[in-house]
Amino acid sequence: MAFARVNEEDIRFFASVVGEAHVVCDGEALRHYGHDETEDLVFLPEVVVRPSSADEISRLLVWCNRRQIPVTPAGARTGLSGGALSVHGGLLLSTERMNRILHIDTDNLQVITQPGVITQVLQEAVEAVGLYYPPDPSSRGSCFIGGNLAENAGGPRAVKYGVTKDFVLDLEVVLADGSVIRTGARTLKNATGYNLTQLMVGSEGTLGIITEAALKLVPAPAVKLLMLIPFNSAVNACRAVSAIFRAGITPSALEFMERDAIDYTLRYVDDVVLPITPELQAHLLVEVDGREEDTLWQQCERISETVAALGAGEVLIAEDEAQKNQLWKLRRKVAEAVKANAVYKEEDTVVPRYQLPELLSGVKQIGARYGFASVCYGHAGDGNLHVNILRGILPDTLCQEELPKAIAEIFTLTVSLGGTISGEHGIGLVQKEYLPIAVGQREIGLMRSIKKIFDPNGILNPGKLFPSLLLS
Ligand code: LAC
Ligand code: ZN
Repeated sequence: MAFARVNEEDIRFFASVVGEAHVVCDGEALRHYGHDETEDLVFLPEVVVRPSSADEISRLLVWCNRRQIPVTPAGARTGLSGGALSVHGGLLLSTERMNRILHIDTDNLQVITQPGVITQVLQEAVEAVGLYYPPDPSSRGSCFIGGNLAENAGGPRAVKYGVTKDFVLDLEVVLADGSVIRTGARTLKNATGYNLTQLMVGSEGTLGIITEAALKLVPAPAVKLLMLIPFNSAVNACRAVSAIFRAGITPSALEFMERDAIDYTLRYVDDVVLPITPELQAHLLVEVDGREEDTLWQQCERISETVAALGAGEVLIAEDEAQKNQLWKLRRKVAEAVKANAVYKEEDTVVPRYQLPELLSGVKQIGARYGFASVCYGHAGDGNLHVNILRGILPDTLCQEELPKAIAEIFTLTVSLGGTISGEHGIGLVQKEYLPIAVGQREIGLMRSIKKIFDPNGILNPGKLFPSLLLS
């Protein structure tokens, strides 16, 4: 696909649409927009444009579509698959000015929001009126709802409540030709034709730009109890995960951290103190929530009995809000902490929950064969294991040659266990060549056809999701 370079006339047009102050072309600022949280990748856009409405976005897209200028939609750029990187230069369309919560509907338990609202800001706004928006990626303090929608973000609470897609009722989307569509309705049920809403969620900015969303809310739980469960065997910790569900309990979070993840994070965050025995190999962090405290204590007891049978050590139940916050901080900072220590690549594998022990041991065996260390943690209740592959002592060139082979083996194992290659981070740039491991040729062909219908000139987030044609 031959794309046009952005010229002076383009810049003048963009400024006429959004105002000069919101067209960014200078070096330092472009560098700021040139990266997300994916490894250390940087791709500079030619221009950053910050529109404030669907109408402005529509006018920008009509222009770019005619001129063949690539458009990369970006939220807070906290993504981990390179989705917001301008790999073909062009225009980076930042939704940061579209940051208003438009309406909290307490009668119907819904919120209508623009895409540039920080997830935690939205959560706190609805919690202030007794409601709850559960999806909670670790980056929720900085990520945008629009990015969560584009990537179908998850987080710890997904195990009980579901991921972003499970909370979306209706979207306003601007398509590549500038038309503005609504995908659904503000109803809990909708059996009215193809599900365009769910097609847009997780489409990684390749089919359209989300400019407004109607999201479902639930009543806020009154009480949460949090347990930290130590294990001297990481595989046993994984085994305990499905045992907890089999005991009839659905926790509101069930997270796994292996020893290295805990060590890295304790070194990285200064205010979390945790006694760690030399034998410790992994922790499960288990939260239960609900309305009745007594019922939750019973659930904690049941969980304690279940994990004791699988060799767990002494269970810690957080005593107060401060301790809960500390434990959650420990968990949420793992990715950042490991990355600060030369992470080479972060994977987002997901398998049926019961297969988690197999996945973990398989990842370690593959790592040992290739000479890579790995740090594993994640949303064990969902079977979603984040695998951070560290370069370790391998030289750079060997690493570049061997790493893709090791990753392909990890993904092949994941698929053979009934899983898939991304649970919540998306395919984006860094996983796209591996897509055929998880998705058949016919299915990739269908996805390409859908892309062509929505974006015949291929201007929306080019270079993402689909494997290079030569390889697929
Ligand atoms: C987490 C992010 C990396 O679970 O998905 O912390
Ligand atoms: Zn995660």
